[in-house]
Order: sequence, then C-alpha cells, then structure tokens
Amino acid sequence: MAFDIDMIKGVYSKMAEHVDKAREIVGKPLTLSEKILYSHLWDGSPTKAFVRGKDYVDFAPDRIACQDATAQMALLQFMQAGKPKVAVPTTVHCDHLIQAKQGAALDLKRANETSNEVFDFLASVSNKYGIGFWKPGAGIIHQVVLENYAFPGGMMIGTDSHTVNAGGLGMVAIGVGGADAVDVMAGMAWELKFPKLIGVKLIGKLNGWTSAKDVILKVAGILTVKGGTGAIVEYFGPGAKSMSCTGKGTICNMGAEIGATTSTFGYDESMERYLRATDRADVADAANKVKEYLTADPEVYANPEQYFDQVIELDLDTLKPHLNGPFTPDLATPVGELGEKARANGWPIKVDWGLIGSCTNSSYEDLTRASSIAKQAVDKKIKPKSDFGINPGSEQIRYTAERDGILKIFEDLDATIFTNACGPCIGQWDRSDVKGDEKNTIVHSFNRNFSKRADGNPNTHAFVGSPEMVAAIAISGRLDFNPMTDTLINEEGVEVKLDEPKGIELPPTGFAVEDAGYVKPMEDGSGVKVSVSPTSERLQLLEPFEPIGSKIESAKLLIKAFGKCTTDHISMAGPWLRFRGHLDNISNNCLIGAVNAFNQKTNFVKNQLTGEYGGVPDVQRQYKAKGIKTIVVGDHNYGEGSSREHAAMEPRHLGVAAVIVKSFARIHETNLKKQGMLALTFANENDYDLIQEDDMFNFIDLNEFAPDKPLTLEAIHADGSKDLIKLNHTYNDAQIAWYNEGSALNLIKKQNAS
Ligand code: F3S
Repeated sequence: MAFDIDMIKGVYSKMAEHVDKAREIVGKPLTLSEKILYSHLWDGSPTKAFVRGKDYVDFAPDRIACQDATAQMALLQFMQAGKPKVAVPTTVHCDHLIQAKQGAALDLKRANETSNEVFDFLASVSNKYGIGFWKPGAGIIHQVVLENYAFPGGMMIGTDSHTVNAGGLGMVAIGVGGADAVDVMAGMAWELKFPKLIGVKLIGKLNGWTSAKDVILKVAGILTVKGGTGAIVEYFGPGAKSMSCTGKGTICNMGAEIGATTSTFGYDESMERYLRATDRADVADAANKVKEYLTADPEVYANPEQYFDQVIELDLDTLKPHLNGPFTPDLATPVGELGEKARANGWPIKVDWGLIGSCTNSSYEDLTRASSIAKQAVDKKIKPKSDFGINPGSEQIRYTAERDGILKIFEDLDATIFTNACGPCIGQWDRSDVKGDEKNTIVHSFNRNFSKRADGNPNTHAFVGSPEMVAAIAISGRLDFNPMTDTLINEEGVEVKLDEPKGIELPPTGFAVEDAGYVKPMEDGSGVKVSVSPTSERLQLLEPFEPIGSKIESAKLLIKAFGKCTTDHISMAGPWLRFRGHLDNISNNCLIGAVNAFNQKTNFVKNQLTGEYGGVPDVQRQYKAKGIKTIVVGDHNYGEGSSREHAAMEPRHLGVAAVIVKSFARIHETNLKKQGMLALTFANENDYDLIQEDDMFNFIDLNEFAPDKPLTLEAIHADGSKDLIKLNHTYNDAQIAWYNEGSALNLIKKQNAS
C-alpha cells in the first residue's frame, strides 16, 4: 500500500485542537482553507491570527510530490543535506520525459532508452532516501496523487504547478520550486505568505453537455490568468456537493491557470465514494470522524461575503459548455459562439486533433463521458474528421478503461493511445501531420494552451474544453460545431445529431490494475549506491558551495540588468530543460536573457579582463577562473516569474557573490539566500544609476553583517571617483548562518553531523 494511514490519522488527531484554538484566536468562524492552514503550522498550535496577504507563515506540509523534470535538481540538492531519509513522505513520478509519437508501447520504450540515466538516477535516489518511486508509464503525478495519496484536510507541496489538483480531495496542495521541497524533505519548515481567500459558491447542478471543466473555464474567464494570485479558491454550495470528486479535481487543477495559490473543496460524500473506490476505506473512515473540521464552519457558507475576500456565485443549472483559447486559458467562449469569434480573428475553423486526458481530465467519469460521444460516431456511422489522441492519467485508469471497453471505443475511431504521461500537454509531442509553423487548430481537455505548449508550433491554436466536448468537436472536425444544436451528415448521407454525454462516476466493478508502476523504497537504503556518470551531459552530482566569506573586495560587475528580469531571463527554459540535472551545463544559460543596461543587448557584456564583449556565462567563467568575485545589478521585481532554483544556483555556481537590485521577487530573493549568496536592495533606488560598466566594488562592512543593519558598497569608477552606496537586506540570523556556511544545505549538513 502506497499511502500512509498512520500519518493521516496523526494529522486528524490534532486537527480539532488546532482548529478550535485558531477559531478562538481569529475570533470568528473559519473557512476550510483556514482550518487546514492553522492545523499545519510549523510551531504546532496557533498562537496568533495571521493577516491574509501579508504575514509570512512557516508551515509543516504532510507530503511532497515531485515530477521527473523538477525532481532531478531537487534530489541532487537533498543529497547535499546529509540526511539518511526524507523527513516527510515523498514520491517521485516519471511523467514529463516521455514523448508522445507512435503510441504507448513504442513511445515508452523510446523514453526508457533516451532518458534511462535520469530514470535510473531518480529510482536509486528514491530507494536510498525512502522516497516512493513511480516508474515511467505509471501515470501522471497529479492523477496518481489523487488516486493514492491526497486526503481531506491534508497539506501537500509538489514541484509542479498542477499539484493543486489534489484540492479535489479536500487538500491544500501547492506547487513550489525544488528548493522549497528540499527544505521540507530535509526537515525544515516551509514558508508561505498567508493567502487571501476567494469563495466560489456553486448552486444548481451540472446537466446535459456541461461538466466540471466548464466551471473552471468560466471562472478563468471571470478572474483571468492573474485573478487568483496570492489566494486560495474555496468552492462550496449545493453545486459542489453534487459534483464528483474527480470533477472537483479538474476544477482545482486549473486553478493554476488563474494564478491561484491553490483551490479546494470541503469533504463530502463524493470524496468518501472516491476514497472507498480507490481502496482507501480507512482514510474515509478516519475522515468521517473529523468531518466538521474538513469543511468550513456553517456560518461561513451561510454568509460568505463576511469571511472571504471575494465571492463569486455560479449557477450550474444555466452554465454553458465552454471552449477557452487560443493561446490563453482565460479567453472563455461558450460553445456555439466560437465560430463567429474564430472567423473574426482568423483562427482556423478546421480542427486537426482532439486530445483527451492529461492530469486535468482523465478520470473514469471523463473517459466514460467522452467515450459515450465517441461511441455515437461508430453507432451513427459518422467518420471523425480529426485525429484522436488519448493520454490516460494513470495505469490504474488505463487498465480499468481497457477492461471496461472504453479504450476500445476510441481505438475503433483510430485514436492513438499515448503513454500514461504528460506527452502533448508539455510539448512532448512529435507531431507529423503539420509541417513547420503551419497555422492549425487543435482542441484538448488539458489545462494550458499557451503558444508552443503542445507541439512547439507557435501557430497551433489550442482550445481547452471538457473531454466530451473535445470528442464532439473532433468528430465534427470544426471549431464552430455546437453539438447541442447542430447536426452532422453521416457516411450514408443521413443527418444525425449527437446525444448528450453520459458518464459513470466510478467503475461499477471497481478499479483494477496489474502493475501500477509503484516501487516501494527499501526500509534501510543506506547501502544503495547512487551512480552518476562523470561524463553525463544531463546529470551532475553537486559539490557543496564554498562560503563567499566576509570579504568581498575588488569585485567586478557581471551585468547591470535593465528592466524586466524574470527567472526565465536568468535561467531560460525550452531546450535547456534537458540539463536540469546538470548544474554546470545548465549554467551556460545563466542570465543570457537579461538585457544589459549599457548596450540594451542580451548576452553581451564587457569582460573587464580583456575589454572585449562576450556572452554572460563565458565572461563570468573567466572571472571565476581568476578567482574574481562579481556582482549582478538589477531593476525592480528581479527574479519574478517562478520559483525555479536554477536561477539562484547558476550564478552561485559560476561565482557571482551578490545580486543587488531595486527590488526582488520574494521567492527568488529567498532562493539566493538559500544558496549562500548576498541578495541586497538599493536603499535609494536611484543609486542603480550610479553603477557603471567598469566599476570595481568593495563591501566595506560585510564583516558586520547582521539583521536589520544595512551594508555599504563602495563603487570605484574608472575615473577614480567613488560612491558609497547603502544597501538594505532582509536576512535574519538563520539566513546569515546560511551565508556564513555557504548555503542552507551546508548548514543542515553541519547540524546533522554535530
Ligand atoms: Fe503533465 Fe500537463 Fe499535468 S505537463 S503534470 S499533464 S499539466
């Protein structure tokens, strides 16, 4: 058994005490989100009320989940902590590195050949450190988590943005960067700004063609891609209760598309049914005993405006099915209105592919609803005009769907059944029907539809819909088809209409699977050897960083970044993702997207040793070779965008000592601190203008580095003149200790050893 019932019972045993205390301290009834947050404080019982959207709080998550792309650097870092085992239950899922092309069997075989060293590495590290390992082909992280690990009232973090999917089972589950996951694996607290709360009241009941997916497609249209930022979205009301647990998962999954911290639903009978169907009756029994703590207090749902920062009400009786896109998931259009919009915007009406599945929509209910449409194509002799691709969310789903004849229905339509993996959802799709950058349209039941996301083609117009709507559109081959009103001409020339979809929430004879793809770690993994080839291009064991020290003198300027400098500018994605587990190789993208303030060019900085201009990583490597420390200067909100730890590790690896900016994106600032670097801000932001290309820098009081005490930078200009620049910082004592030891992990290792 993969999940840990004792851990779950442990959470529930303290929940009542923590929640009752929190209610007393906050002085009013609590939402479900607050109950989960206050019962997962690092310090145990609540002692103060936190200000939403303001206070940073240390939490103690119950679980961690990592996918294969992000797990590489996370585990390489964890190995640095010197711990024999992970501190909280953790799983690794191999799902991102499998390309979809010819169908599951061949694609999986190819992935196992091309990425075997990464998979072997992840498997051996997992075995060594007590981490559950899900093999390639076992399924997509979030579907596997929902089927095996998610539990009502729990808190989980995961190194993937759609970790939020587990909200469908009443969790607070949040996507984080690898550095955060490593902290928790190593036994440290996890810090989060106490979120704001958005309440979504669902009234009425889903009916006809409308599905849970349409709830979030509609909400995305209302809130837009940024509307949920910094907030937990809590769904409630009779409409929520009437929906399946996996439907709730779909809604929470796409909470990532509105920027929400996470989304969640209160515990109800649909969750209980799902827990029992997925062989977790003991979790359901345990949850039933603390039911009132796994949903908001009744007063909250009676008067939501008093308790949430924002409230939205949706009537499911009148909600229409939607297709969102292209290029952004918040461009919501009711089906039936899309043809006109597409013609006005020049979006191709002809649909080439209908893709069903992904972590968002591959439940039994999803597949049965979509197959009820697909079957009509066979029965009513309609030849589908688009190609079908299916990627099941897990082996358990695939096996059950095959057993129950669901996959056969799609196969009868010549659908390609891809591996139980991300595939086209993450650009891992070797598509042969479209050449070059040809303009084309696809519909899918995934979550994201940004340019190039599915097949790398910027002219692929991707629209997001429910699986059943994707099936209908793919059968018709037209974006302007409305199955609720339109008819199709079948192979006999007869006009036929598609009936409404019919789904089955859970398999009537239960889920089944022969080999789910789970590998349990050894009880004592101390003897497991983790081997990484020294000649590997993709993996490299990390060396502990040397402390930068209290003396930074005669430092050079690597780059003064102009304007926006996100983590993508600092550590680009795309082809570089291949090197995520190899710090030295991926460091060749360090800051290559940042604009040099002195010439407005990217990856073109002055090498002050030669006077020539060169690429940022090349120039920095030359400074490093000579033992010369450098600084990076930046503008406002430096490091915004993501929690990617590579953006901090790369400059650190290449020898940058300090990053000095007008302001930081907070997560990046913390990541720099964790890597043992100086993350500083100009006390007077106009001092940014004092920094010249040929300057030399001395940190004149770094030996007095202390909390709340600004530092002073001496900038010596080429003409000999000097400026003294006051620099602020937000280091506390613990973070200064990270700096002094060379990194947070070095400190953990030292503490472990002592
Ligand atoms: Fe994978 Fe796409 Fe989900 S990349 S984890 S299927 S969002």
